[in-house]
Amino acid sequence: MADIRLEHIEKYFGNVHVVKNLNLHIADGSFTVLVGPSGCGKTTTLRLIAGLESVTSGRIFIGEQDVTALEPKDRNVAMVFQNYALYPHMHVYENIAFGLMARKVSREEIDRRVKRAAALLGIEDLLDRKPKQLSGGQQQRVAIGRAIVRNPNVFLFDEPLSNLDAKLRVEMRTELLKLHRELGATAVYVTHDQEEAMTMGDQIVVMENGVIQQMGPPREIYFHPQNLFVAGFIGSPAMNMLSGRLEQGAFISSHVHLPLDIGGPNRSVVLGVRPEDIHLEGALTAARATPPMTVQIEVVELLGARAIVPFRLGAQSMKAVIDERFLEQVQEGATMRIVFDRERLHLFDAETGVRIE
Ligand SMILES: Nc1ncnc2c1ncn2[C@@H]1O[C@H](COP(=O)(O)OP(=O)(O)OP(=O)(O)O)[C@@H](O)[C@H]1O
Ligand SMILES: [Mg+2]
Repeated sequence: MADIRLEHIEKYFGNVHVVKNLNLHIADGSFTVLVGPSGCGKTTTLRLIAGLESVTSGRIFIGEQDVTALEPKDRNVAMVFQNYALYPHMHVYENIAFGLMARKVSREEIDRRVKRAAALLGIEDLLDRKPKQLSGGQQQRVAIGRAIVRNPNVFLFDEPLSNLDAKLRVEMRTELLKLHRELGATAVYVTHDQEEAMTMGDQIVVMENGVIQQMGPPREIYFHPQNLFVAGFIGSPAMNMLSGRLEQGAFISSHVHLPLDIGGPNRSVVLGVRPEDIHLEGALTAARATPPMTVQIEVVELLGARAIVPFRLGAQSMKAVIDERFLEQVQEGATMRIVFDRERLHLFDAETGVRIE
């Protein structure tokens, strides 16, 4: 068993409060993805789990063991960094074996583990090369190999794929997931890449400014963001946000009047609509569509199968994602008639930012 529990973790660097009352349970064998804006404390959180930083207060458990005061080497955790940090003068074999040699593992055992890791990663033919003779993707595999041979209970990944080109990143993403299934170790993975977060995580943890804003399965984070921060952070292009009032259960702004049947007092709210939940009139069943609105198209950005269409609803700038097949009806500078998907609307209290439902 190697689940991870972070209990009431606080971390200060001098006066700077970087991690704030962090409480997090990471299930044994799960793949948890940590996302959040630059500087929110993701790397620090990984380093705290690894023991490379000490907590200011709080406790960290790996399995049944309280590891809060343990040295990194006694935690059975392996960390893979964004810059692979391979030793340039050593061959791939030695780079992978290095950590084991320092631990006085027998030569035969080292050889067995290095070969197994190389086979898992498909780099058996590269063991005699030096790092500079490898591509970025191959170097990253070596860095992962170095982590695998230690047979850790926990893998920590800090943006491991961010130095790779887009195509290789997608390939490595699939390989990492397969590897994770084979090894069965608990993984915590930091990324800036929304697609990586959505596709790889059993659980996504969204952090802002040292505080967890929401954690849950990718679908829940995407379809039920608990507050305005998560709603705006997850999804690309970002969710459209319309400021208005909730009056007698209807959303009202200067250009929208939308009966929503939501109870409670009248108040200031923000209506969130994801770009892909905006459709041309007639594309949704009547039961699902809001009353149509006429909007001014600004530009059409064709991506291939879909296009991003920035438009104006009155003074408000918004974006829709429209299927390429319907683009005949969408001309730059013209108007179009749109509807929102009623089943995919998000409503937030404007004061607190908290989701209303
Ligand atoms: N050793 C340190 N001393 C002082 N401040 C630090 C130290 N390490 C990190 N910080 C600060 O702590 C905050 C969190 O840093 P951290 O590296 O955890 O962010 P991050 O979420 O990983 O960001 P990024 O996405 O840019 O990698 C930042 O404000 C950073 O400047
Ligand atoms: Mg970081």
